[in-house]
Amino acid sequence: MNLILMGLPGAGKGTQAEKINEKYQIPHISTGDMFRLAIKEGTELGKQAKAYMDQGDLVPDEVTIGIVKERLSKDDCKNGFLLDGFPRTIAQAEALQSLLSDMKESIDCVLHVDVPEEKLVERLTGRRICPTCGATYHVIYNPPKEEGICDKDGSALIQREDDQPETVKTRLRVNIKQAQPLLDFYQEKGYLVTVDGDQSIDKVFEDIQSKLEK
Ligand code: AP5
Ligand code: ZN
Repeated sequence: MNLILMGLPGAGKGTQAEKINEKYQIPHISTGDMFRLAIKEGTELGKQAKAYMDQGDLVPDEVTIGIVKERLSKDDCKNGFLLDGFPRTIAQAEALQSLLSDMKESIDCVLHVDVPEEKLVERLTGRRICPTCGATYHVIYNPPKEEGICDKDGSALIQREDDQPETVKTRLRVNIKQAQPLLDFYQEKGYLVTVDGDQSIDKVFEDIQSKLEK
């Protein structure tokens, strides 16, 4: 199954991707996670990406398309993949179409997790992540058992650098501008399925499963 998860920052893509990955056993490919790892490791890619991410801007298409191309060529993508946060521009979507056609693959479904814009700031500023395992929490909606501590490995949770209120505003503005043309692109191709993301995390996942099993 070849899936794309779309949604504005904070819509719950990463949260749902973890669940989809567990249930359907397809690799979770998040361009945001790949950039954050590169920054942590101090690679050339990380240096390039950091300047854009810190501002809340998109990383240039050539760079982003390049890392996705490399990732999709890995063996574990042969039985499907879940793209999270890519494509985010029409140029990326077109590059993906041509990449998949070279691979003799196609998209099965584009899942759009839809959440009203006014809910997103609170989701992003309340998010906490585990620097060790990458697990995502929310101080109100998905708190860890012990405040500030990862349930899985006991690490102290941190806030993502781009979840500061000022950066959040730019991210939302930049992404809202890109979103509609992309939704139209996939709607026209007949791939687009919208899920109401303004429900509990478990209910959103139930809806995703029932849409995928149709
Ligand atoms: P990326 O890491 O992809 O960030 P994003 O798109 O801004 O999305 P987020 O990870 O912030 O949100 P999410 O939808 O995954 O929400 P989450 O599940 O965590 O990208 C970061 C940056 O990298 C970009 O700004 C850009 O610079 C660059 N980049 C990445 N891809 C790129 C591309 N293709 N092109 C160019 N640049 C690119 O949930 C958010 C919070 O809400 C959490 O706290 C969670 O616990 C909580 N929550 C989740 N679901 C619910 C629910 N149903 N109810 C209540 N709370 C919920
Ligand atoms: Zn952890």
